[in-house]
Amino acid sequence: MNSIKHVAIIMDGNGRWGIKYKKSRNLGHKEGLKTVEKIIKATLKNKIKYLTLYAFSTENWKRPKKEINFLFNLLENFLLNKISDLIKQNIKLKIIGKKNFSSKLNKLLNLSEKKTIQNSKLQINLALNYGSKSEIISALNEIKKNKLKISESNISKNLYTKTIPDPDILIRTGNTKRLSNFLLWQLAYSEIFFEKKLWPDFIEKDYIRILNNFKKIKRNFGNI
Ligand code: IPE
Ligand code: IPE
Ligand code: MG
Repeated sequence: MNSIKHVAIIMDGNGRWGIKYKKSRNLGHKEGLKTVEKIIKATLKNKIKYLTLYAFSTENWKRPKKEINFLFNLLENFLLNKISDLIKQNIKLKIIGKKNFSSKLNKLLNLSEKKTIQNSKLQINLALNYGSKSEIISALNEIKKNKLKISESNISKNLYTKTIPDPDILIRTGNTKRLSNFLLWQLAYSEIFFEKKLWPDFIEKDYIRILNNFKKIKRNFGNI
């Protein structure tokens, strides 16, 4: 049986869910946050150490300003209301992606990371303004600056995920089969599960089914 240390999730389908049930993409994002909370709980219950959630990509800036503002307001309120819960549950929050938001949000993100830095039960990597290509370019620039050799280990050591194992599992909800610039390097040997359900409809039972299916997979890593 494979053990599970790290699950990464592309939480897709909020907009379509919102249009379908509430005639509003933004209300879909609001609903999607409830799924985030459910999945965090289930991740803790299953003693998984790392959970990486794709919340906003470098390409998502192309969206209408109104939707972007709504998303960041949602995030701000979540952090303000839930950070004490995260501390209580021994969860460490790490932002992956370029933190170049308003100074107010940057401060809140830094404070949330600082307040949870000692926690050790579960690390949540929240991918915000995250793009895998730009992450890899930054790593290569860092290697160049320090006159190091371009090697697999030096690249890994200069990514946001430098201290943690690569994802065992990638889940993408929303019935779309692509990676959308997410963890391109780190997913080299991850098991990928594309889910038909939209993110707000994804429930603990769906998550557990994936975890159980993963446990039975024969992972070869090139071997036989
Ligand atoms: C994913 O849901 C969440 C973010 C990108 C913030 P979408 O907003 O992409 O939902 P769909 O794919 O349009 O339904
Ligand atoms: C990926 O979803 C990004 C997040 C879930 C944050 P998108 O909805 O942005 O992906 P594309 O544009 O359909 O590939
Ligand atoms: Mg989408």
